[in-house]
Amino acid sequence: MRGAVNDTRGTLRVAVVRGDGIGPEVVEATLPLLEQAAGQEGTRLQVSELDWGSDRYLATGAVMPADAAEIVGGHDAVLFGAVGRPDVPAHVAVWGLILALRQQLDLYVNLRPVTSWPGIPGPLRDGSGVDFVVVRENTEGEYAGIGGRTHAGTIDEVAVEVAVHSRRAIERVARYAFDLARRRNGLVSLVTKSNASKYGYVLWDEVVAEVAADFDDVRYEAVFADAMAARMIERPRSLDVLLCSNLFGDILSDLGAPLQGGLGMAPSANLRPGGGAPGVFEPVHGSAPDIVGRGVANPIGCVLSGAMLLAENGLVEAPRALERAVAAAVADESARTPDLGGRGTTRTIAEAIGEALATAIV
Ligand code: NAI
Ligand code: MG
Repeated sequence: MRGAVNDTRGTLRVAVVRGDGIGPEVVEATLPLLEQAAGQEGTRLQVSELDWGSDRYLATGAVMPADAAEIVGGHDAVLFGAVGRPDVPAHVAVWGLILALRQQLDLYVNLRPVTSWPGIPGPLRDGSGVDFVVVRENTEGEYAGIGGRTHAGTIDEVAVEVAVHSRRAIERVARYAFDLARRRNGLVSLVTKSNASKYGYVLWDEVVAEVAADFDDVRYEAVFADAMAARMIERPRSLDVLLCSNLFGDILSDLGAPLQGGLGMAPSANLRPGGGAPGVFEPVHGSAPDIVGRGVANPIGCVLSGAMLLAENGLVEAPRALERAVAAAVADESARTPDLGGRGTTRTIAEAIGEALATAIV
């Protein structure tokens, strides 16, 4: 928690990166709802718009300016839509923006709650719903970007990608996960492949077991990543906090998206717990070029990311009210967007959330 708003009255400085594709559509729907919810708790949002993304890249050659981290540092939080355009390579747009911010701001936790909503059909036979959260290490692992290629284009070509797992990074993300489990249902499931890999995930097992010893009141288990994929489908209600490396957290949290009703429903936060950098809050989905401009993008992943933004900045009632309002809005089939089986639009679902919100806090 950043503590920028340490009582119920204050101003929250939010940098907004709408980005590309449906990014601007879902952010446009979300911002008034955040303002409404925060306002009900006595907090004003001071929004600065940042024109970062593919259009900026095509015009200037850079997705974001060189001093991006400094600009963002003058805010309490960043709300980010999505980036990516078919005519701009993914490594330029996605890596150049969101991955660069994660690294420059040392946002070492990627938090992805997986929650189902009443009335939204999921793929599981057991319809009793899911409620767990993926805590993903966000700075190293298989995505450290270290390696090389040799004998290019020949039959002897070799590529080496080195995974980095440091005690420091494992320990800090583990402490966050245990602390979170303490505030939730008290179980941390570490996800590794220490049966198949010899070094990196063995270090994870050792370091996390040491951290677990400091949290007597939290149950702890180590589960292999492949077994966890099956368990997420077969027994999701047995899960609380999944502690994952960068790679496994990426894959398993995407597996979580359909469990909560699809990519359009899934929120996320990139955090540096303990302070020192604003969190970056973003829906899990990308820029969805296949539906852009049609007004049917589901804004809920972005709205729920916004609720996380408010919660991380010390608001209490506003994020809860937003979640209750989302639950009320999706229960009404006529307001739902097509990805949820409805005939509604970005606007109808946002209006339904706004109406529910207006009655949520008295
Ligand atoms: P995507 O998430 O944009 O779309 C996958 C599928 O889900 C599409 O059929 C899309 O229509 C649907 N979908 C996604 N969000 C939705 C929403 N809110 N409402 C309704 N339907 C929704 O992933 P895809 O197609 O792999 O990537 C498209 C672009 O987005 C690429 O340029 C990719 O690099 C970028 N991308 C960006 C991310 C980010 O900004 N963090 C993350 C993932 C992809
Ligand atoms: Mg992913």
